[in-house]
Amino acid sequence: MSSTVLKIAALAGDGIGPEVMREAIKVLRAVEKKFPVQFQITEAPVGWAGIDAAGKALPDATLALCKASDSILFGSVGLPDRDPTIPKEERPERAALLRIRKEFGLFANLRPVQLPKALAHACPLRPERQGDGIDILVVRELTGGMYFGQPKKTEEVSEAGKTFHRATDTMVYTTPEIERIAHVAFKAAQFRRKKLTSIDKANVLENGILWRDVVTKISKNYPDVTLEHMFVDNGAMQLMLKPTQFDVMLCENMFGDILSDEAAALAGSLGMLPSASLGATAGEKTFGFYEPAGGTAPDIAGKNLANPIAQILSCALMLRYSFGMNEAAKAIEAAVGKAIEAGNRTGDIFSASETNARRVGTKEMGDAIAAGI
Ligand code: IPM
Ligand code: MG
Repeated sequence: MSSTVLKIAALAGDGIGPEVMREAIKVLRAVEKKFPVQFQITEAPVGWAGIDAAGKALPDATLALCKASDSILFGSVGLPDRDPTIPKEERPERAALLRIRKEFGLFANLRPVQLPKALAHACPLRPERQGDGIDILVVRELTGGMYFGQPKKTEEVSEAGKTFHRATDTMVYTTPEIERIAHVAFKAAQFRRKKLTSIDKANVLENGILWRDVVTKISKNYPDVTLEHMFVDNGAMQLMLKPTQFDVMLCENMFGDILSDEAAALAGSLGMLPSASLGATAGEKTFGFYEPAGGTAPDIAGKNLANPIAQILSCALMLRYSFGMNEAAKAIEAAVGKAIEAGNRTGDIFSASETNARRVGTKEMGDAIAAGI
């Protein structure tokens, strides 16, 4: 059987990045043994690893590798201890992560939040609030809003004989930006439970009014999907009170950043949450950027304690969205499910009250998942 060769840029980054990336690559190698595909995986430094290796959070060679690849598998960047030692424009979050999002036009961020039955104990909500299970897809706009709007600056101002600082961030969205992310969210809803909750702050923000108008207009193309609008403050509350009411949540950049962390907590741990960042689809392959939604967790880095599942599930999203390999994606997701059902728990999802579970390290969790492919 001839096999397709797919080029993956693997940028592990800082903190727990390298150790969870190692497990993700292990799982991809297991996929190669079962499916007609070959992964050409090239690793390159990013974040503080990039600064240490080549003086920049996103070294030129790393960017060139990304451009020559079919997709990017990303770990995490930023170290709170070191970040303040360099100018903010050079820090890994801005100079690497936000730069890549913008550079590749990755406007659609998909964050699937699922609470597996076996991890009900890790959810902070009482069992009766978990219903038949929590299964939400957060669709976050990723290249607009307050993250990128101009002006963005801190200046010194003088008023009434006093001098102080004033910081400005600008929230700005255009109709086309809202339209394209709305289409992504409605299409995703069609493959799920056909309900879309659009999050905004239309009672206060101009942006919110435009957002609501445009999403309502786009909904006419998707008569099979039920649309509801919700203010972001209420959305945050409803996630706690009745998360099972949500199927797809459509959010602008900042609201999506906040609500996706909140939703992730419902799934037991940030260490369980993968994400896909996509741009415009070109032909069959969609260039994508895949990363765990959690951070670098420097406190547990290098200790074989981190949960590799978010990184591994990010590989599944990559196979599904960039490579059209849905069966292989499902194989990874099923292997994760099996490893959890078999009682493997990293510290973040471990509870002493579970009788059939045992605490395992990053590597052991990766081994268990790779063996289940
Ligand atoms: C995320 C992260 C990033 C963001 C940070 C690290 C810049 O929190 O991907 O959710 O705010 O987008
Ligand atoms: Mg975030």
